[in-house]
Parts: sequence; structure tokens; C-alpha cells
Amino acid sequence: MYPGVRRAANARRTPISTVRAIGGITVTAQIIALCNQKGGVGKSTTTFQLGRRAVLRGRKVLLVDNDPQGNLTSVAAADVVDEDQAGLADALSARAPETIRDVIVPGVWPGLDVVPTSGTTLGYVRDELVIAGAGREGRLRDALTAVADDYDLILIDCAPSLDQLTINGLTAAEHVAIVTHSKLFSTNGLAELLKTIDNVRQYYNPALDVAGIIINQHEEKTVSGQTWVTELRTAMATRTDATGNPAPITVLAQPIPKRVSISDATEAARGLDEWGTAEARDLGSLYDDHLTALEGARS
Ligand SMILES: Nc1ncnc2c1ncn2[C@@H]1O[C@H](COP(=O)(O)OP(=O)(O)O)[C@@H](O)[C@H]1O
Ligand SMILES: [Mg+2]
Repeated sequence: MYPGVRRAANARRTPISTVRAIGGITVTAQIIALCNQKGGVGKSTTTFQLGRRAVLRGRKVLLVDNDPQGNLTSVAAADVVDEDQAGLADALSARAPETIRDVIVPGVWPGLDVVPTSGTTLGYVRDELVIAGAGREGRLRDALTAVADDYDLILIDCAPSLDQLTINGLTAAEHVAIVTHSKLFSTNGLAELLKTIDNVRQYYNPALDVAGIIINQHEEKTVSGQTWVTELRTAMATRTDATGNPAPITVLAQPIPKRVSISDATEAARGLDEWGTAEARDLGSLYDDHLTALEGARS
């Protein structure tokens, strides 16, 4: 038996799921990377609000800010993270002594922790990874393996790029959720992202699964918005892989609409359930449905 299996069975709390193997290493947390190489589609917002729903379900949640811009950290960390404070960059860099456990900070709700990013160091680490040798893709996976038993769910908010940071995110994850914005995301962009995911699966993380596409900032009242969603669903349902075999991808049921309460609540570091309006509460339920779908994607 893998040592990790025994460790999980002996864990203080009851894991929410059966033990899974990622990259040959046994862990308890479900790890989901939220990706899109475009900025502004709602990756950080979605990560934060999904994290909120998971906390409400009593999950122990870790949010990983894998974007040098550090937007997630600024809302999800309970206290301000100073620019010179150790963060994800230090946990990934071969030049810094800190482990991931050294850099984790409390989040804005009980049950939430954050691997923070602040200042410019994660950008430097991205450059360090470009010239680093073998194993560079697996640094985040190795780091998370050390803490995965402490959490039920780990969400990785990826940078708007397909560089080494995102590849680290995809290599560390069991599932990837693609966040798209109907107006901005071209079919070409999606094809490029799916190709990167295929490459990561082929070379670094054979178990990587696309949990689904989350459509965000949907303008449901416009004809173009509706047409785009229908076309995307059709294209993803009939998708084939490079060898011509069926490789459909789920578009998660209901698109998340464009609503000021989503941006306002998130910028104020509040869950939608905490925002106090009926609309926000309903939107919170929508994120809950998406969380159910993502958790259900677990193998
Ligand atoms: N569903 C939504 N409705 C309204 N505004 C949104 C929604 N999702 C995100 N936003 C806003 O869009 C902007 C970009 O979102 P963000 O989560 O930072 O994107 P990304 O992380 O992909 O760069 C932010 O100002 C955010 O508040
Ligand atoms: Mg972001």
C-alpha cells in the first residue's frame, strides 16, 4: 500500500472523497486549475466565489494564486500580503528556502487558506522556470503534494498565459476548468488552450481531465451571446482529438451572467451569499451548481 493511502485513512477529518492518485502520488484534495490565456474573463472571480461555496459546504479549501498580478490574493487573503512577503514564488523557486507550508496565509473565511502572490517575484520565477532544467513543470505539483492531505479542495487561479506557470498549474491539477467570456474568446484561442492541455497530459500529467467550460459574463439577453453559447456547445459535444477519436468537452450547464453584484461582492472580498440582495444569493446558488459539477468530475 502507498504510504499516502494509510495517511489519508488515518487523517483527523474524514476526507470528502476517496483517495486519488495524481502523477503517481496519492493525495486527498481534489485539485482544480482554472485556466484561460486571456485576462479579464473571470478566472480570479470564479476561483474566489467557487472557493466560497466550498467553504460553505464545510470543505477545507486552499486557493493558489498562480498569476503574477496577484488579484486573487488581494481579495482572498485575510490580511494584506506585503510585497516582500514570501509567497507562491518562493515555494516554486529553487533559489528560495521556503516551502509551500511556510508561505500559506489564512483566507477571509474560516476553512480557507491562500498561497499568496504579491509584488514582482512570481514574474521572476516564471523567467527562472523558462531556463530551468528537467522537472520544472512539476514544481507546483511537488509543492502541493506536501499539503494536499490538509485540504479537501485546492483551486489554482492561473495566469493569463500558456507559459511555465500555467503548465505548472496544469501539471499539478487533477482537473482543469476553462473559464471563458463569450465575447472575447475565439475558437482559435480555445483550440490553443486545449492543445496545451493535451501536451501537458501527454508529457507531464496523464490523469489531467477537462472538467468543463464555465461561461462567464454571459449576456443572456443578446442574440449574439446566445448564438455563441449554442455554437460552443455543439463544437464541444462533437469534438474529436488529434487522432480523430471523440473527445467531447462539457460546457457547464448554466452560464454565469454578467452582473455588477458579482464584481462588487468579489472586489469587496465577500461571497455572494454575504452580499445581502436576493439577486446575489441566486447567483451564489449558481456558483454552487458549478461546484457540484466540478466535484462530480472527480474520477
Ligand atoms: N460574471 C461577472 N459579472 C460582472 N463582472 C464580472 C464577472 N466576472 C468577472 N467580472 C469582472 O471582470 C473583471 C475581470 O475578472 P477577473 O476575475 O479578474 O478575470 P481574470 O482573472 O480572468 O483576469 C473584474 O473586474 C471582475 O470584477
Ligand atoms: Mg485573474
